[in-house]
Amino acid sequence: MNKAKRKAVIAGNWKMNKTAAESAALIDALIPAVQGAGCDVVICTPFTSLVTAVEKCAGTNIGVGAENVHFEKSGAYTGEISADMLVDLGVKYVIVGHSERRQYFAETDETVNKRTKAALAAGLTVIVCVGESLTQREQGVTEELVRLQTKIALGGVSAGEMARVIIAYEPVWAIGTGRTATAEQAQEVCAAIRKVVGELYGADVAEATTIQYGGSMNAGNADELLQKPDVDGGLIGGASLKPADFAAIVAAAGK
Ligand code: PGA
Repeated sequence: MNKAKRKAVIAGNWKMNKTAAESAALIDALIPAVQGAGCDVVICTPFTSLVTAVEKCAGTNIGVGAENVHFEKSGAYTGEISADMLVDLGVKYVIVGHSERRQYFAETDETVNKRTKAALAAGLTVIVCVGESLTQREQGVTEELVRLQTKIALGGVSAGEMARVIIAYEPVWAIGTGRTATAEQAQEVCAAIRKVVGELYGADVAEATTIQYGGSMNAGNADELLQKPDVDGGLIGGASLKPADFAAIVAAAGK
């Protein structure tokens, strides 16, 4: 496997944090901190900060993403946001199937697949999240589960569209807990995901697909995780709200 064939991508997942004004201030601090990065840099903000983020990041090396998207184009879906609405704002990325959406908002593998397809059809780049719970890890089903999640999420996605798919391996037990997967654990599962992508689309697509690790990645552990051959970047929660920490992770990915 050849890391040079794919883009390293560090994406911040701001979750339900920051008003629009607070987002503007954070972006003002982030822009100089990640300037000239050796990897792609993305911030995924709450819907209410997207307009501000797109405006502020125009002409910089920071891409803007949303944290969720609905799968229908329009209609009676109170409270939802369509892929076309995001594209219209200038948003380029969207996170789909984050474990918090699966856990708290009844997201299933099937709806993750529908959202992935809708987002791709609208022209977005999709960050698809997969990952096991602590119980599932203890039961020894991590690889089977992640394989299944990946396969279902990618159902109906073409090989051409895979150029706009990033997969984020996020063990649920490591998210927001300060308990990071070891670099070996991250490598093992990211490699398993690349293997499934290879089975579905062939070796060329597998080698070109960016696979991130996420779950308590921070300035201190990013280097070791990102040095692993199949870990091509990170989806960063808590540390993405701290410019110096986020910049350190971006620097580690650009090495
Ligand atoms: P964390 O979150 O970095 O705060 O663990 C990662 C994520 O949920 O994407």
